[in-house]
Amino acid sequence: MESPTPNAKARPATPARIYDYILGGIHNFPADQEAARRILELYPDARVMARANRAFLRRAIRFLTDAGIRQFLDVGSGIPSQGNVHEIAQPAAPGSRVVYVDIDPVAVAEGLELLAGNPNATSIHGDLRRPGEILNNATLRKLLDLDQPVALLIAAVLHFIPDDDRPYALVAELVAALPAGSYLLLSQSATEAVQPESSNAQTIIDLYKRQAATASKARTRAEFERFFTGLDLVDPGVVWVAEWRPDSAEAEQFVEQPERSLLWAGVARKPSTTTA
Ligand SMILES: C[S@@+](CC[C@H](N)C(=O)[O-])C[C@H]1O[C@@H](n2cnc3c(N)ncnc32)[C@H](O)[C@@H]1O
Repeated sequence: MESPTPNAKARPATPARIYDYILGGIHNFPADQEAARRILELYPDARVMARANRAFLRRAIRFLTDAGIRQFLDVGSGIPSQGNVHEIAQPAAPGSRVVYVDIDPVAVAEGLELLAGNPNATSIHGDLRRPGEILNNATLRKLLDLDQPVALLIAAVLHFIPDDDRPYALVAELVAALPAGSYLLLSQSATEAVQPESSNAQTIIDLYKRQAATASKARTRAEFERFFTGLDLVDPGVVWVAEWRPDSAEAEQFVEQPERSLLWAGVARKPSTTTA
């Protein structure tokens, strides 16, 4: 990425770049760094939470490639740097195709740069609140065959979509465009999450909101589960992100208190008779 240019100081913080900084990435500007440091000061667990979410993604992508999925649509992908979907899916299942979508133009530009030379992965600009535009995007249509199963990934994004924006209808519209045998992967901030020194996940995302002017909403387990209506949740169902098929030391820090991973997670398969 362009390292801080004369303009960089003027760039407002965005969730994609705040998250990149929290993950230890280099694709961020001073305002993002300041916002992220403020979040980390108040909630040191935010970094572990972001890593636990990425670890969930890695485990779930392996599950999905094992299940035969070869197409991935990652909405709200952030900056597809280290450990992202194509880096897991393509070695596991060569020829897998990945389309990253993000509302942040810098995340998209970074994605295109990182993916240069990879004919089976690309990054497009899109807004989850406009699913039709995502689905009709010409670049997406060139890479993904929507008549074949697709894994739709919406990880750590739905808390940026308040109820007024009809998040359930948005997710349902995307799922409806995919054939039976497709999968939906979600994670989202939990109302029930416990932070050691204070309140809950809503406080962190409120902080994101103030720092990045992004609306936000933690959800209860029941509210989160509702996103999977009409789909078949795969084991273990809806759980804390660190509890979804843990397979390594990555999740160990949450063994005693999985609710500290702050996010609900789930993966579900679209059955042939769904109306979702
Ligand atoms: C916390 S990051 C999650 C990144 C990645 N999905 C992961 O789980 O590691 C949230 C991302 O969602 C993006 N985002 C927020 N609102 C969005 C929207 N309405 N449409 C598309 N992307 C959005 C942000 O720009 C940011 O990159």
